[in-house]
Amino acid sequence: MCGIVATVGSSQATRILLDGLHRLEYRGYDSAGLAVIGPDGLQLHRKVGRVQELAGDVPEDLPGSIGIAHTRWATHGEVTEDNAHPHLDSSGRIAVVHNGIIENMAPLKARLEAEGVVFRSQTDSEVLVHLIGRIYRDPESPACGDPLAAMRSALRLVRGTWGIAVLFADHPGAIFTARNGSPLVVGLGDGQSYLASDPQALVPYTRRVVFLEDGDVARIDADGVQTTRMDGGAVDSAIETLDDTWGEGDRGDYPHLMLKEIHEQPEALERCLSGRIVPEGGTAKLGGLDLDARELGRISRIGLIGCGTAYYACQVGAELIEKLARVPAKAEIASEFRHRNPVIDPDALFFAVSQSGETADTMGAIREIQLKGGRVMGVVNVVGSSIARACGHGVYIHSGPEMAVASTKAFSNMVAALAVFTLMLARQRTLSAHEGRRYVEQLRAVPDLVRRYLANPGPIDTLVEWVTDPRTRMVLFLGRGGSAPVAAEGALKLMEVAYVPCIAYPAGEMKHGPIALLERDAPVIVIAPRDELRDKTLSNLQECKARGARVAIIHSDGDAIARHADLSIPVPETNPLFSPLLTVLPLQLLAYRTGLALGRDIDRPRNLAKSVTVE
Ligand code: M6R
Repeated sequence: MCGIVATVGSSQATRILLDGLHRLEYRGYDSAGLAVIGPDGLQLHRKVGRVQELAGDVPEDLPGSIGIAHTRWATHGEVTEDNAHPHLDSSGRIAVVHNGIIENMAPLKARLEAEGVVFRSQTDSEVLVHLIGRIYRDPESPACGDPLAAMRSALRLVRGTWGIAVLFADHPGAIFTARNGSPLVVGLGDGQSYLASDPQALVPYTRRVVFLEDGDVARIDADGVQTTRMDGGAVDSAIETLDDTWGEGDRGDYPHLMLKEIHEQPEALERCLSGRIVPEGGTAKLGGLDLDARELGRISRIGLIGCGTAYYACQVGAELIEKLARVPAKAEIASEFRHRNPVIDPDALFFAVSQSGETADTMGAIREIQLKGGRVMGVVNVVGSSIARACGHGVYIHSGPEMAVASTKAFSNMVAALAVFTLMLARQRTLSAHEGRRYVEQLRAVPDLVRRYLANPGPIDTLVEWVTDPRTRMVLFLGRGGSAPVAAEGALKLMEVAYVPCIAYPAGEMKHGPIALLERDAPVIVIAPRDELRDKTLSNLQECKARGARVAIIHSDGDAIARHADLSIPVPETNPLFSPLLTVLPLQLLAYRTGLALGRDIDRPRNLAKSVTVE
């Protein structure tokens, strides 16, 4: 959360900073700000709202070839200009942008206030700049006048997470930075260097990068980066090259990124499956896991960990693994998992599932597993992201850049990647080559079925009318088995993009409580592909109809269950295990079109951010 960009070299800084902020806006968009050092010293510009607002406030020809910038997702303090970054120390000669949370803000702030510091914002980040400033200017301190030493001393007092970029007016040729729990990557150009929260901001300028690690404190100038550790020891940082998956992520001919990403699913799925399926053996291979047959055979259980949409993909994955490979599998919400002191079976395999590869809760779960000697692998979209690097081994889902806050194509590719893994595991355990070949064929056919559905998505607009009907107070989503997480994903999408209150329940559980919410014409969306649970789901939807609800059914094309629907939305039929890849599509379109009908900010829904890098 929050995006940081900084640059130093010979080019005008503000152009690069504003462009970088635009590219990182998906990380937070409550306010934006920048600071540059020019002929008149340190200049600060901050604005509430989008980067666009800030760009309107900054003179196009603002001189200065070194600067730091920030786009904010508010944690401490409301969305105001005072709370926007950068923050200055009392001298006005040091500026800081910060991504993360200072957990011991209260005692540190009280101490600084007792020493006479006047705070101008309600943010935790302002504590950092005052701490650094006081140590830097303290003639008694051995760190006096030394930016890196002052930062190290200040950070030793702090508990929490940070990715920071600091400007010292006394040092107009360098940016100073530190990382602990919030990602930062340095870009190396020709006489120009960059710093950003993620490589997305760097791709137009350079593909040569250094990923900072937790505990790094670094000085960046026009010629490169010198990295040290918190104890002052030097680090020999590896220079990496960003591959082509780091693209532009623009809207193309689509009105919104979300719609574009929904329509990219057929190609994204093909990319995910490509080179991983072994048709003749009825199996699959995932080299990135680096697991041999013996190791695959020894796995006692599988844990799948993620947040939001990634968690629902984990639930679908757990269902696939248990059903097909007959290995106990459980999906867990990362923010719960890490704090419940989980027992880690040494023979278990964990997957950390994340589009961004930066989600703080998922990172926390990885640390917990690794601390207890467990084995965890990434199922990640963003190549080189923190989760991918922390896990070391894993599967890239190859969705291509997903920039809309609402996750769509990443969900599908997470499910597809887990399906590929399931086939590989199942063939090592219970599945015959003959059966394996059938599943392989069915999985390979999915991208075309997705394509076919998206070309003719059915009566989504009627469903939009139900949902936006002024009498509608909430929407109920129901499904069983692998369709229960699809129902939850549909509800999440409609809540986040259209701000419509929704509840998702496993269909059989509805009668134990939520049924009380049903009123005449209340919309109920039932996900009921042709599988072994279809008839049970049918009974549950009858219970809804009996109470006057209007029922839309997302079902396999040609299934007679359509007769029971007030609104029937058929999707092409596939093996029931892979049906989430089809049944989720109408729900993505429903969220998109409802958001549009209600005039929502589709790609940047309120209060949200794409990468959730705080706990
Ligand atoms: O980057 P991640 O996949 O780890 O993100 C996890 C969630 O924050 C994310 O899926 C969120 O729920 C989406 N906005 C849902 O559309």
